[in-house]
Amino acid sequence: MILVTGATGTLGSPLVRRLREAGADVHGLSRRDRDPEPGMTWHKGDLYTGEGVDAACAGAETIVHCASDPFHAKRDLPAARRLVEAARGQGAPHLIYISIVGVDKIPYSYYRTKYAVERLIEDSGLPYSILRTTQFHTLPDMVFNVLTKVPGVAAVPKALRDQPIDVGEVAERLAQLALAAGPARRVDDMGGPEVLTAEDMLRDYLEVRGLRRPVRVPLPLPGKAGRGFREGHHLAPDHAVGKRTWRQYLEETHGRR
Ligand SMILES: NC(=O)c1ccc[n+]([C@@H]2O[C@H](COP(=O)([O-])OP(=O)(O)OC[C@H]3O[C@@H](n4cnc5c(N)ncnc54)[C@H](OP(=O)(O)O)[C@@H]3O)[C@@H](O)[C@H]2O)c1
Repeated sequence: MILVTGATGTLGSPLVRRLREAGADVHGLSRRDRDPEPGMTWHKGDLYTGEGVDAACAGAETIVHCASDPFHAKRDLPAARRLVEAARGQGAPHLIYISIVGVDKIPYSYYRTKYAVERLIEDSGLPYSILRTTQFHTLPDMVFNVLTKVPGVAAVPKALRDQPIDVGEVAERLAQLALAAGPARRVDDMGGPEVLTAEDMLRDYLEVRGLRRPVRVPLPLPGKAGRGFREGHHLAPDHAVGKRTWRQYLEETHGRR
């Protein structure tokens, strides 16, 4: 039995699909009531309050922890602690965690929390696997969507680069880890196929969506976290294993059909 936390999310949804296609007994955790689905067991629970977490973990041989609450990032550490305790109560299930490239190097508050969760899992005594990836395509897509809602100039930070990756490819890798015979500890990072400037990504976005906006790059990236991003610690050019490019993602998601 494989329990997926964050099973309703951007990553959790394609992961659940792949695990189900592989014939696994898949359970998902969500804070909301879910309609029953054939071949899928839903548990209502909240990792932060602890509600329903023991029941969701009952019988799990593997737990893939994709749940996260970036708008209340500080909750992720107590939430992970609650999950680890519940997992320990089940014996020693394989705990798999999805993290982000650079969490140990960039002192951005969300990244600090993710790094603390990594260390909690490494020290938990449970068999574990941790995968770090670069940003999913959906993240800059969402940012650019907000940015271009207001008319006028679209501005992005100077010197910011990104290496976006397809979330389906990340889900595939997590499914491999979940279906493997045993834990793998920290596995190789996964990055998208190309490193792009934020400016070029925005220009591609505007072109594919047929939007006209002057683009400016006046925004500095201040502070220590900004420096970490400027220096590219969130990139994995040596692990550019992703296949689907930003442009392909944009054309398939927003292009005219
Ligand atoms: N987005 C990226 O670019 C990126 C890159 C690398 C790694 N990651 C990591 O990948 C993971 C998944 O990201 P995502 O983009 O798929 O997130 P998402 O779409 O925002 O989904 C978040 C999920 O977390 C669940 N959740 C939040 N708080 C919870 C709580 N207290 N108890 C139980 N469930 C809770 C939500 O479930 P309900 O709302 O159904 O309760 C939802 O399914 C995160 O750990 C993120 O840090 C993301």
